[in-house]
Amino acid sequence: MRPESPNPNTIVWFQDRFVRLAEANVNILTHGLHYGTGVFEGIRGYYEPQQQDLFLVRALEHYERWKKNCGILRINVPISAVNLVDLTAELCRRNNFRSNVYVRPIAYKSSARIGVHTDENDAYALIALPFGQYFEKKKGLKAGVVSWRRVEDNAIPCRAKICGAYVNSVLAGDEARRNGHDEAIFLTESGHVSEGATCNVFMVRNGKLITPPATDNILEGLTRASVMELARRELNLEVIERSIDRSELYVCDELFFTGTAVEIAPIVQVDHRPVGSGEIGSVTESLRSLYFEATRAHMPGYRNWLWPVYSSAVVERTA
Ligand SMILES: Cc1ncc(COP(=O)(O)O)c(C=O)c1O
Repeated sequence: MRPESPNPNTIVWFQDRFVRLAEANVNILTHGLHYGTGVFEGIRGYYEPQQQDLFLVRALEHYERWKKNCGILRINVPISAVNLVDLTAELCRRNNFRSNVYVRPIAYKSSARIGVHTDENDAYALIALPFGQYFEKKKGLKAGVVSWRRVEDNAIPCRAKICGAYVNSVLAGDEARRNGHDEAIFLTESGHVSEGATCNVFMVRNGKLITPPATDNILEGLTRASVMELARRELNLEVIERSIDRSELYVCDELFFTGTAVEIAPIVQVDHRPVGSGEIGSVTESLRSLYFEATRAHMPGYRNWLWPVYSSAVVERTA
């Protein structure tokens, strides 16, 4: 997907106030820009025309993860996760979004000077933009194992969305696309499957749903957690977190990526080999449709995943 340039009049939260995107600029010497010392998040919101509401998906958990992961870089976000969700809902209302959105919180080391040593100058911003589908392909993706290895936890921890670590993802995605694939699959230094450049990976083999464990240098995805919950509760599937060999990708029945941006993206070809029958598999299809229904507020059992942007304001006003 090649998103359009955002509207410069979009309202964003920057330096503790709402400003136009065109005014939200940083100093060219900013530490985070030179050394990658920032941590970001990605949250989706789905607009439901029937309910005339915008539902932020697992926003509280995203902010809890973000605040904890900022701690890895010793960046302080001086506001609670609940208040961040409220602020995000207000941001969406100020923009009057009536479409699906993607929210990008980012916290960073904000000193403007030369030198890698850090100090206590931290800043954060929240940006929300209209957002469509990440992958436009309806019939499934072609994935390829890349020659770049996933960064190790002892080098740059992948469980946080650390800005500098995304160079690893950019290199992998670029190699995969140049080799005719749609998305990369990383291996760890020890040769096990880790994840995609911006998403987690799942495999269906002999009726079981299998995904690499947190210790294989993955981001502990919230969509991954949602899919595991849906698989267990709705499909009664056995879900296993274990290391996956590269060659298992070639003999499994189904493969798919998960992530806030990519949602549930079926893989029908890996390293130029068909996955299973070469068509989107039935487990992937079921999970995709369950995830769609749950995140559009169509499944009451999953309403606790969702934060309604417009009706929450009504509740607050009438409370
Ligand atoms: C490297 C990487 N892995 C996995 C994911 C999926 O995480 P989540 O489902 O929490 O969005 C992302 C999300 O952006 C990511 O960047």
